[in-house]
Parts: sequence; C-alpha cells; structure tokens
Amino acid sequence: MSAPASDALVLFGATGDLACRKIFPALQALIRSGSLDVPVIGVASSGLALEQLRQRVRASLRQHGGGGDDAAERLLALLRYVDGDYREATTHQRLRAALGGARHPLHYLAVPPSLFPLVVDGIGESGSAEGARVVVEKPFGRDLASAQALNRALHRTFAEASVFRIDHYLGKEAVQNLLYFRFANAFLEPVWNRNYVSSIQITMAEEIGVQGRGRFYEEVGALRDVVQNHMLQVLAHLAMEPPVGAGAEALRDEKIKVFRAIRPLAAEDLVRGQYDGYRAEDGVDSASQVETFAAMRLHLDSWRWADVPIYIRAGKRLTATATEVLVQLKHPPQRVFGAAAAAGANYFRFRLGPDRVAIAIGASTKHAGAAMAGEPVELYVCNDRGPEMSAYERLIGDALKGDPTLFAREDGVEAAWRVVDPVLKLPLAVHPYRQGSWGPQEADALAASCGGWHRPAQA
Ligand code: BG6
Repeated sequence: MSAPASDALVLFGATGDLACRKIFPALQALIRSGSLDVPVIGVASSGLALEQLRQRVRASLRQHGGGGDDAAERLLALLRYVDGDYREATTHQRLRAALGGARHPLHYLAVPPSLFPLVVDGIGESGSAEGARVVVEKPFGRDLASAQALNRALHRTFAEASVFRIDHYLGKEAVQNLLYFRFANAFLEPVWNRNYVSSIQITMAEEIGVQGRGRFYEEVGALRDVVQNHMLQVLAHLAMEPPVGAGAEALRDEKIKVFRAIRPLAAEDLVRGQYDGYRAEDGVDSASQVETFAAMRLHLDSWRWADVPIYIRAGKRLTATATEVLVQLKHPPQRVFGAAAAAGANYFRFRLGPDRVAIAIGASTKHAGAAMAGEPVELYVCNDRGPEMSAYERLIGDALKGDPTLFAREDGVEAAWRVVDPVLKLPLAVHPYRQGSWGPQEADALAASCGGWHRPAQA
C-alpha cells in the first residue's frame, strides 16, 4: 500500500539559513513542477509577522531560487506562520490549530540537532504527530552514542517508517547516477571487484572555508560534517551489491551491509588537517583542534572488496571545488607494446559536483603512425540536457510522497557512525595546511601505494 501524500508542510526553523538558501527555493521548484500544493506553515521564534516572513521568502527566492515567478507567488499564498518558542506548549498548540484539518502533515526540522528532541516531543504532545512524518536535517548526532540517543528520542513520537533523515548527497543527480550506471549496465559488473579494481578514491574538495559557520563547525569538523554522511553514502553506492527486488528497503539494506563491512577507522589510517587562518574565523576557538580536512584509508571486509584500498579525502579551503570518484583498475598483465605503450592503467572517473554529472573512462589508444605507441585518453560523457533537479527539491518531493528510499535509516546512520566513532575522541594531531593547497603533506603517505591522491580539476 502506498503512503498517503502529505497534506501540509511544517517548516521548523523557517527564518534560518538553511530554509533561506535551500528549502524555500526547493519548494518553489516543487510548485513549478506541480508537486506541491498544500499549506506551508513556517515556525520560528524570531518575532516576525507573516508579511515579514513573506518578504524574507521573496528575498530568498531572488537570491537562491528562481526569482519572482508564478510559483513564487503561489508559495507566498500557501505560506502561514507560527511565531513562538519551541519549548512552550502554546507554540505547538497554535501550530496544531494552524494545521486545521490536515491529517498527514510533514514536519521538517531545519533546526539545530540539539533541539530535535524538544521539537519532536512538542509535536507529539500537541497531537500533531498522528499520521504525520518528520524530516530531520544532518548532522544526525555527533557520535554513535548520541545518534542512538537521538533515534530513541525520535521514536518516542514517530515510528521509524515516519522518520526521514536527510543527507542531501543522496538527492544529487550525480549520486543517483552512480547507482544507475552500475546497475543499468552489464559491462561493469565483471570488472567491479577486487580482481580488477586496484583502488577507489573519493575526493570532496572545497575552496570555501567555514563561511561564517565557525561556531557550528567547531562542533563538527570534517569527519562529522561530510565524511560520516556524504562520503560514506557515496562509497555505499560504489560498493554495494545489487538490491534484491524493488523498493526502498531493498536498496537501503544493501547500503547498510557496506557500512557494516567497513572496518572501524584506525588512527594510523587517518590524517587530520586544519587550514591556516581557521582559528581566526568568527566563532572558532583560538586554539581549536578541529579538523577542516580529513584524509583516510578504509578497508572493506567483503567478498567483493577485500584488500582493495579505499581512500577518502575531504577538506575546506583547498585548491579546487570538485567532488570526484576515481576507480582505478589494475594494469594489464603484460606490456605487449613495450615501454612505448601508454603507461596509465584504466579507470572510471565520476564527477559528482559542482557542475554537471559526468563519467569518464580512462583508456589507452594508439597514436596514428608506424609505431605501436600510444597515449592515455578519456571516453567522456556529460549531461548537458538542461537543468538538473536540486537535491533538496528531489528529497522534499519524496518526503511529501512518503518515499523513504533516499533517506538514511536508523540502522544505516548508526552503522556509518560506527566507522568513524573510534577516532572521534582520540587526541590526534591536526596538521596545518596552506589555504589553496591540497591539504597537509602528511596525507600524501596514506595514498602513496596507489600512486598518490587523485586531483580533480576545477570546474
Ligand atoms: C554540507 C556541509 O552538508 O555539505 C558543508 O555541512 C558543505 O560544510 C556542503 O560545504 C557541501 O555540499 P555540496 O552540495 O556543495 O557539495
């Protein structure tokens, strides 16, 4: 039986940064595509009136969305507002009243994680949880124990089937395409294993720093901000077995098996870095030991991937903004064309951002002419067929329909925390690095045995 569609969207944190940058623009896009036509009830404690919230939404759409079109006007017309402190029962009672006859509201918690339990209890106590779903933003906890506690807090009010944990990487076209490319083609499967693959690398490089989010970043660091979630999700797409049958659970089951097969990260397989100047950012401790860069080697103990080294590197204030996967294949067993043959092994390169979805296959071809000499080439495909759906548009659309496929499940987030948990509390060194570099030199040794780190090109 399919889940009932949501008949109202409640946005806690309606005046916050995330709502402004990502959520309202996504709602505008959903209205444009005909996927949203229910009341949107903002909740926040900023002392605003509805008209002032509308002005903010207008500004958000001008800056981050599709500007002022019919969909923008429709969104403003659908907008309601409840102003009040999340701790007070009256706020939740006024929300209950604003929901009117809605029977399946979608509650979106775009608020700091420390407030999740409070807001969820308020939703439950005011009677707004029945028949409802809840979307929670990342970071989902700060280690395994806190994620488990958060799961327990959510389950006091919502059954697991009604909890939608967002990881926006799962909504990205390029990440979806990893799955599609793997399982919609037959030619990949024979080589997609330890017999042919020599290493897997995932790089998430950002030129931006913490962008005024110093206080938030001090609580997380790169491991919690992007590795435990985005990077491990990408790895799961690369490493999982084909799902058995259709449906959300089949896919999520296979991804979770990957998390479970990853050996918990050991201190000697991790290098942490911090960009010069980070400690002078607003909200950052002048002696901060928080990492803005993390490079690691992972081991996946599965039949398919045993002994294939997996490298992940993520950092801020690096030399480029690019997220890429490189799956390196082993060399041919012999050099039939001698030393003059192109040296490179074959590889698959998946561009995940920031520009369009792209896939490249690295191969060698012969130079025209008498000699049997060649050069490395790339067979390259790139999506240039118009605008891509934003991750938030896809994910909010799915949550409104009640489709959990692209959301993290309770056992999945906990299994992913299990991978990074052992190193989170260790007093590991944090190596300084120059802004605009590829991170601290200390990271180079980690990937030396696979020929060094892949350096994705700037868009
Ligand atoms: C967010 C992190 O989840 O992802 C940010 O909190 C990071 O620190 C962002 O910059 C990157 O997302 P994207 O879609 O730009 O790759």
